Amino acid sequence: MDERVINIHIPNPDAPIPLEAARLTGAARPEDIESIFLKTSVYVYEVPVRLWHWLNAAMIFILMGTGYLIARPLPTMEIAEATDQFLFGYIRFAHFAAGMVLTVAFAARIIWAFFGNVHSRQMFKLPIHNPRWIKELIFELKWYLFLVPQPKKYVGHNPLAHAAMFFFITLGMTFMIVTGFALYAEGAGQGSIYDQTFGWVLGLVGNSQRLHTLHHLGMWSIVIFTIIHIYAAIREDIMSRQSMLSTIVSGWRTFKDDRAE
Ligand code: HEM
Ligand code: HEM
Repeated sequence: MDERVINIHIPNPDAPIPLEAARLTGAARPEDIESIFLKTSVYVYEVPVRLWHWLNAAMIFILMGTGYLIARPLPTMEIAEATDQFLFGYIRFAHFAAGMVLTVAFAARIIWAFFGNVHSRQMFKLPIHNPRWIKELIFELKWYLFLVPQPKKYVGHNPLAHAAMFFFITLGMTFMIVTGFALYAEGAGQGSIYDQTFGWVLGLVGNSQRLHTLHHLGMWSIVIFTIIHIYAAIREDIMSRQSMLSTIVSGWRTFKDDRAE
């Protein structure tokens, strides 16, 4: 077979212009071809991890919106007779439904950590005994603060993102689930399955108002995480030496250069 057909990286000098199929390789300059060879891709985030990420993000957005409205209800609206409207009921229903979907999805994500690749387990443990990890955590903090000129390359999460995910999601979201179900147990009533499983939390915290406040403060910590997380994902997609946004969509991490360090 003609070698030009086999190797798409070699520009085809004979291709008639404009020939749609050959335009890219035909128009490629030597620098473009060099750049194609430098790029490498590694498969990092498997399908369950990506599905969970986006489902979880959607549920978090619903929970933040409805949770905020539960804490700070809309003014009474004269859209209908009080008995004919159920707006606040729908807001609470959306909150509880999203909370339950989030809980089941998180349980499935934990189970997947036992079966998935090494990156699927990253979020659940911190390698604090590894001095190299600590060193890179500090390095990454400096990179985020514009104090070093060049970032490092990571296949999974960088140590700073890793630590943020552990504290805000693994621990933080568990806290939201536990306090959320403890609040739900109050509504479901004594003796209900929710009361039997999460009723102890109310006793531990002391009273319902304090439980509401803790659950509420937890929301603000997740809001802060989300703002920084989205900023960092977009910033790193542009400034780092590897792909970010496409990675959490396709699973593939593409490196922009072939330097080892
Ligand atoms: C438009 C919104 C979002 C974008 C663009 C986005 C983007 C990303 C990207 C690029 C990664 C991969 C980071 C890496 O490789 O180190 C990631 C991972 C992650 N994101 Fe988001 N994210 C969004 C919303 C959220 C929200 C709302 C949450 C939860 C509050 C969240 C929690 C996570 C977690 C926990 C991971 C790690 C996944 C794992 O290891 O299983 N993300 N996100
Ligand atoms: C990240 C997830 C979550 C966020 C951001 C969130 C946010 C909030 C906020 C801000 C409030 C109002 C608290 C106050 O009174 O000041 C609230 C109330 C509540 N949340 Fe969540 N929540 C989350 C997860 C959950 C989960 C998993 C459940 C479990 C079903 C849940 C159940 C409830 C209940 C029962 C209330 C009280 C409703 C009421 O008093 O009318 N939440 N939530």
